[in-house]
This record gives sequence, structure tokens and C-alpha cells, in this order.
Amino acid sequence: MVRANWQAGMTGTPWSGLAMEHLPVMREEALEYLQCRPGGTYVDATLGLGGHAWAILERIQPGGLLIGLDRDKESLEKARVHLQPFSDITRLLHENFKNLPLVLNNLGNRLVDGILVDLGISSFQLLEPERGFSFQSDAMLDMRMDRSQRLTAADLVNDLSEERLAEILFRYGEERFSRRIAAAIVRAREHARIARCTQLAEIVSGALRGRRPHLIHPATRTFQALRIAVNQELEGLEEFFINTVSYLRPGGRLVVISFHSLEDRIVKRSFRMLSGRCVCERTPELCTCPRREEALPVTSRPVTPGDAELDMNPRARSAKLRALERV
Ligand SMILES: C[S@@+](CC[C@H](N)C(=O)[O-])C[C@H]1O[C@@H](n2cnc3c(N)ncnc32)[C@H](O)[C@@H]1O
Repeated sequence: MVRANWQAGMTGTPWSGLAMEHLPVMREEALEYLQCRPGGTYVDATLGLGGHAWAILERIQPGGLLIGLDRDKESLEKARVHLQPFSDITRLLHENFKNLPLVLNNLGNRLVDGILVDLGISSFQLLEPERGFSFQSDAMLDMRMDRSQRLTAADLVNDLSEERLAEILFRYGEERFSRRIAAAIVRAREHARIARCTQLAEIVSGALRGRRPHLIHPATRTFQALRIAVNQELEGLEEFFINTVSYLRPGGRLVVISFHSLEDRIVKRSFRMLSGRCVCERTPELCTCPRREEALPVTSRPVTPGDAELDMNPRARSAKLRALERV
């Protein structure tokens, strides 16, 4: 793996206050691979609190434009306040990035110079107790990124069949004790609705007592799985990468930061397909892959955070950055 250098801490920047809520992961590396230039049009598809966006905006003046999307209204509004100094060159929208083609068509900007996708949730979302993402919080089991959506994690935990729960834990959490945990959840909900994060964390810990070495909290994988399921994070992700590249100008770049192997596998597969390679693993005679070279990878292996960044931000430890360039 390529280890990158961490540069420029966050203290002393105009947004060091927001850095307390979320430190942008591999900020310098993302900028390097995006190759931001004055006058260019860039998309931050996962705006969060605007940490990466701020750094992009500093580099695209004069004449540049940043289109920022987030499906979380609260994060978007925080970013809007924070990016106020650049308000004349930003368009910020409460949108799922899977609607990016529609957004670009509506803005009359068919082709852009770069797109950044920093997947997952921010520290702000994770640590805000009432959002219900953390097994350490006593909040309602919520986990919705977009709070206008109805389905919550509590709905899944209380309403799904034992088989479906086990399937979700196995598929999205890669949890080898998925059946045991699903059975414990179903037993517990017979007595009372499972409403709070700590309640679920205790049920999972009880189900795994003595079975998992304490490297991570026993409920880590269960919480990851439910979050991915509630927000349908992986559905349509491959199609999004494939479709989105046609909105890049030749030479424009797509930069993706992922945080777990399920996301990274999709990024890798999409990048392979976009560079005209086979992904179906059939023999050449039976292969139906499009084999059209639309873009070329600019990172042969994933870029990972350097030690200095990991010291400052342990949350970055699982991050992988991959980039490709439109031909
Ligand atoms: C890791 S954070 C991004 C942090 C951001 N780069 C920064 O520097 O502050 C990921 C953000 O993407 C948003 N998000 C996740 N999936 C999304 C989707 N499909 N569409 C739009 N936003 C999404 C989350 O709500 C969250 O705010």
C-alpha cells in the first residue's frame, strides 16, 4: 500500500472549530489527486461539514465553482455556514449523490473537472448522541443520514425476521456470529421493543460473551451492518461510479475515499470496469463486460493515511483512497 504524508494540521485554519467535529481524512492526498485548478468546476459529493470543500475552494479561485451534496440536512446547513466566505462560488444541495447526473443536468453543467466521494459518516454524525449511530450512546436507535426518511435502525431490529436480520449482519457487517446475534435480538424483543443503542449493544455483547477477543467492541459489526442497511449505502454504488465518470471532462478525475472492505471492493470493481477490463471472471468467450476504456486508474494501489495523520485522527485508520482519470 502507498503510505502518504500528512501535511498541515487543522489548528489555526479559519475552520479549526469545525475540525473538532470532523477532521477531513487524507485532505492533502485528495487535493493532490483531484488536481484542482483555478476556474475549474468540482463536485464534493459527500460534503459533510465542508472540510475537503474548503480546501478545494481555496484552490479553484478565481472563476471556479464547487457543487456540494449531502443527504444529511444538518451537516449541509453546518457546511453552508462554514463555507459562507465562498458563497458566490458554491452550490450546496440536500441530495443523495446517486442523483448527481440529474443535479448536473439541472445546473446546466454537463461536464466537471473533478468529483470527490468521501464515503460513510462523519465524526459529527457518529458523535452527535441523538443521531443513534454509536453503540456508546443512550440515544434512540436511529442511524438515518437523511432524517426525512422514515425507516430507522430500530424498525429493522424490531420488525425483520430472524433470517433477514442474520443475512444483513453477515452481508453488511461481515459478522461471523450473525445467526447467534440475530437469535439473541429476536429473543430480547419478545420482552420489550429494542429502542436504544446501548440496549442493542448489550444484547450483542451478551450473545458474544467469550467469543470475540476484545480488539473491537463486540457490537461494532452489528452497528456497521444496520447503518449500511438503513441508508442503503451500497445499493446502486457501482452504477453511480460508472455513470458519473461520463460527467467528467477528458483529464477530469474521480477520487474516492472508502472506509471498509465492502465499499472498497465496489470501488475497485467499478474502476476495473471503467478502464475496460473484465470483471465477470468468465472465460474470454463468455465474457459480457463492456470492455470500453472510459477512464484510467491513477492510483495503482490504494493510498492510505500516513502515520502523522493516524496519530491525529485514529478514525482514518481504515481509509483507502483510489483515483481515476477520464480519457
Ligand atoms: C465522511 S463524511 C464526509 C466528510 C467531508 N468530506 C468533510 O470533510 O467534512 C460523509 C458524508 O457523506 C454523506 N453521505 C453519505 N452517503 C451519501 C449519499 N449517498 N449522498 C449524499 N451524501 C452522502 C454523509 O451524510 C456524510 O455527511
